[in-house]
Amino acid sequence: MGCQIHAAITTVGHYLPETRLTNADLSKMVDTTDDWIHTRTGIKERRILPDQKRATSYMAARAGKEILRKRGIEPEEIDVIIIATVTPDMFFPATACLVQAELGATGAWGFDLSAACSGFLFALNTGAGFIESGRAEKVLVIGADKMSSITDYTDRTTCVLFGDAAAGVLLEPVNDGCGLIDSVLHTDGRGWESLCMLGGGSLNPPTHDTVDRKMHYIHQDGRAVFKVAVKGMADVAAEIMERNQLTGDDIRYLVPHQANQRIIDAVARRMDLDPNRVMLNISKYGNTTAATIPLCLNDWENELKKEDNIVIAAFGGGFTWGATYLRWAYDSVTEDV
Ligand code: ACO
Repeated sequence: MGCQIHAAITTVGHYLPETRLTNADLSKMVDTTDDWIHTRTGIKERRILPDQKRATSYMAARAGKEILRKRGIEPEEIDVIIIATVTPDMFFPATACLVQAELGATGAWGFDLSAACSGFLFALNTGAGFIESGRAEKVLVIGADKMSSITDYTDRTTCVLFGDAAAGVLLEPVNDGCGLIDSVLHTDGRGWESLCMLGGGSLNPPTHDTVDRKMHYIHQDGRAVFKVAVKGMADVAAEIMERNQLTGDDIRYLVPHQANQRIIDAVARRMDLDPNRVMLNISKYGNTTAATIPLCLNDWENELKKEDNIVIAAFGGGFTWGATYLRWAYDSVTEDV
């Protein structure tokens, strides 16, 4: 112990659009109620970026700037930029290129990573690999999604769930036993049809017909996803605890992907965790896909102390899912901004 290099989160940052879309607003758009949405999902409101000229890279770059400012480093010092997203500005160039340019990160290379709601978790583990191998010293990992751009606001079964946001972290090497310790990650493509966007890719290139058939919106079989999400997230969380001899009492916080409060509650019960050790902000932001986990870290940053045991768990389209165990690497300093 002590000399092995781990990748540690050394700063978090975020960007939230100002426009709020409340359950009351949605009940004027589709046949739904505040009570239905809140009881079934835990969501009260979400943020939306209504400006059509501003997309995912706009939000991701702002999260990136906050990270650079808080860490007190220059953009040129970044080695790699990974953007987890299912709503890239364009198919290509990668959103990471647009963020690199906006930040002025002239020493960085980068790419996008597509793993739906597990995007941030997969990107975090990918970025950690660059640090652990010694190939990079500063990796920017940002989860960003403009879900409103692929949401059908006439479909009550999906439009109540999603919001827009970006948040991310800086990964740097440490050798004091903190940082990412262990991960369990999975993909099972057999379930892809339960959660997907059918149109726009090489299978269904955009045509008038694909637009008429609403194939450029999120399609979800909510009930099917709910079942596998509960089992998938609870199984990996239990496995990572067992492998690292952790009990519920050892864990300072569970950081779950925020898709549905009922899924999160079920995972916390399986981990034998007190509810006050679970980061939960779905009521304010809804499901922001790749941004949910770093948004939680951002909201709770001031509560976190060096060496706190954290378990991150996610489940998303693909299917993709997993859990990461990390030891928090710093005591946060409250900013006077
Ligand atoms: N308002 C009122 N009624 C509604 C609404 C709404 N907004 N949406 C659906 N209903 C109705 C349905 O039509 C259905 O009516 P019926 O019984 O007459 O057919 C009834 O409510 C129950 O519908 P269910 O789909 O069974 O409701 P459920 O309790 O499963 O909740 C939900 C739906 C919230 C979508 C839930 O299934 C869920 O959270 N699924 C998992 C989501 C998830 O984890 N996604 C993965 C991450 S997302 C990503 O990767 C991009």
